[in-house]
Amino acid sequence: MSNPTLLILPGDGIGPEVMTEVRRIIDWFGDKRGLKFDVAEDLVGGAAYDAHGTPLTDKTMAHAQSVDAVLLGAVGGPKYDDLDFSVKPERGLLRLRKEMDLYANLRPAQCFDALADFSSLKRDIVAGLDIMIVRELTSGIYFGEPRGIQADNEGGRVGVNTQRYTTNEIRRVARSAFELARRRSNRLCSMEKANVMESGILWREEVQWVHDNEYPDVELTHMYADAGAMQLVRAPKQFDVIVTDNLFGDLLSDAAAMLTGSLGMLPSASLGAPAENGRPKALYEPVHGSAPDIAGQGKANPCACILSFAMALRYSFDQGTEADRLEAAVESVLRDGVRTADLMQAGDRDPASTTQVGDAVLKALDASL
Ligand code: NAD
Ligand code: IPM
Ligand code: MN
Repeated sequence: MSNPTLLILPGDGIGPEVMTEVRRIIDWFGDKRGLKFDVAEDLVGGAAYDAHGTPLTDKTMAHAQSVDAVLLGAVGGPKYDDLDFSVKPERGLLRLRKEMDLYANLRPAQCFDALADFSSLKRDIVAGLDIMIVRELTSGIYFGEPRGIQADNEGGRVGVNTQRYTTNEIRRVARSAFELARRRSNRLCSMEKANVMESGILWREEVQWVHDNEYPDVELTHMYADAGAMQLVRAPKQFDVIVTDNLFGDLLSDAAAMLTGSLGMLPSASLGAPAENGRPKALYEPVHGSAPDIAGQGKANPCACILSFAMALRYSFDQGTEADRLEAAVESVLRDGVRTADLMQAGDRDPASTTQVGDAVLKALDASL
């Protein structure tokens, strides 16, 4: 049988730095666990714009459609701030999500015990936290039409974006969330603003419909997203799985990142419907961006990207045990105090570099055999 295929898109800023560590880990699984992947690498974001004048070429897009999983680092950076909107680095990532139809974005926020003191919240509020935010990723205000910037009739301009959701778009992401809830603590909280938005009313009704007709055994609650944001920082452990729309999910998952200690810790999986081979179309990426303030300095925390590869092992390749092995290796490295600067406090010894964290994870993987 041929090896599973991976397309690696390191992107910009710290993307290539954290991806270098992931590549070493992929090689480790090939050498030590017989899990061989056929790996190809290509450009996305600003790096692709610099080479080709577009943040994602049609060729790379087609390649992404054909592989078993895509791993992405991060895109964007100040160098590209003045580019036309249509060729900004972020457009490359959004095109991948949209054309691969990756509608369910899984953003787990887990607080490793060793990091409970790094959260901006008190230890007892976050210790042991393990929640999963399911963010709708291919619709809503990110993609709704009409959109644009036009002249208004007062001599000024008007910026327009449209929040739009259909029954099918809500039901399919709700199903993903209910499925996850069943495999976890069987609780799902859906967040929208049904008090002010018609799309929120539809969201609430359709999630309830999926519950009543298909998942009556899962405990479903609804919350307004603003109240949800408050509850997420007041008492995050009340949640198990949260399902929400594209924009609310973007905001809530960055907030959840700080419960875990650092944005450099949060992985994600973006999944579509199963392809012909039964695997979902999938893209794995850290939740963080290209971190221009620390790029090129060897300071980036590679854990989010490494943990994203663990999610690939679990969700694309049915290798849950190997995913557990990798997650445990990351946790043991953090417990041993090998940490990048984002996980340091005043008075701590020197922070580890990106490469040193990678080295330590490889050592912990060896020790797991
Ligand atoms: P960011 O996530 O890049 O950085 C926010 C803060 O977190 C910075 O202080 C940064 O140093 C820190 N940080 C992030 N990741 C880290 C890591 N792995 N290790 C240590 N510290 C880390 O967000 P931003 O500054 O708002 O955005 C920068 C650029 O990245 C923008 O162009 C934005 O559009 C883009 N972006 C891309 C993605 C993506 O590719 N998925 C996600 C978010 C932002
Ligand atoms: C994320 C990012 C992206 C988003 C940007 C870079 C397009 O913030 O993945 O969370 O807004 O979805
Ligand atoms: Mn974001």
